[in-house]
Amino acid sequence: MRSLIIGGAGFVGPYLLHELNKINDTVFITKMPFEKLDLDCSGIYDMDLLDPDQIDKVLSECRPDRIFHLAAQSSVYLSWKKPELTLNVNNMGALNLLESVRRLNISPRILMVGSGEEYGYLKPTDIPVKEDTVLRPGNIYAATKAFQNMLSSVYHRAYGMDIICTRAFNHIGKSQMPGFVVPDFCKQVAEIEVKGLSPVIKVGNLSSKRDFSDVRDVVRAYVLLMEKGRSGETYNIGSGKAMEIRKILDIILSCSTVDIKVEQDPDRMRPSDIPIIVADVEKLKADTGWDIEYPIEETIKESLDMWREKIRLEVSHEK
Ligand code: GDD
Repeated sequence: MRSLIIGGAGFVGPYLLHELNKINDTVFITKMPFEKLDLDCSGIYDMDLLDPDQIDKVLSECRPDRIFHLAAQSSVYLSWKKPELTLNVNNMGALNLLESVRRLNISPRILMVGSGEEYGYLKPTDIPVKEDTVLRPGNIYAATKAFQNMLSSVYHRAYGMDIICTRAFNHIGKSQMPGFVVPDFCKQVAEIEVKGLSPVIKVGNLSSKRDFSDVRDVVRAYVLLMEKGRSGETYNIGSGKAMEIRKILDIILSCSTVDIKVEQDPDRMRPSDIPIIVADVEKLKADTGWDIEYPIEETIKESLDMWREKIRLEVSHEK
């Protein structure tokens, strides 16, 4: 199989490549021209989703059997600061991709990566949330992902395109960059421990509850869905369990060698933050046999260890 990962230079791309290499797929990756990427795959293309000609060129050359559409502005926090960028990348990008597939008259299976954030404000009776629940997005990022889902459904029905949509809930892993809660907390703790900074950690809203999984479980679901998912359907991907952000902080602080004070940072608070989002993953399990393999507490601890190592290296290079 020839697989194309669109937006492969982000956090998830290398994990997905690793999963596809296990099944001996021929994998091509696109990245933005300014991004650096050194991965073991069959080809890396520079491609800006806002330029339809570039998409046509890559798809014509690569002729993929399967397209994994990962490219997105994926930070909820940043979507409040950069709404136009978020809308352009997440929606014009998706539209340009679907239009290119239609124009070229090719028929790859396409996996559109959406988000659990699309559900937004849930009624208590809707939790854990099933795929057919009404969407009430609570932020700009979530609204763009909800639109991407609707657009995909339109292209599937109107043109018979083979599209599967996912709603991935929070996923974490060692190489996730700051801007998301686990690396934001781990980096600060590592800096306090290694650099001897003042023992105070800055945090945002600790009372929200989210559904966290290891990114390795999430990419395994993507590949299984490409193989076994039903065309035109949307699938939740998550653990099915709620974890309060305060609990994540407690796990990280309990592993620290330093006694750290917690301080709320107004800049880390969002204009609105959904109180609780938890997935019902029965549809994914029934159709693919998928289940969680990595305990999330271990992934959080691995992330802290990785940040300690990273900061130690930084400090030793400065010397
Ligand atoms: N980033 C961040 N940094 N979040 C914080 C912090 C902090 O210092 N302190 C508290 N939080 C809270 C946020 O307010 C939010 O309620 C929660 O921690 C999780 O924040 P993020 O890790 O930034 O993730 P997200 O839930 O907004 O979005 C992530 O999950 C979605 C799926 O549910 C992203 O990975 C999205 O791309 C993804 O679609």
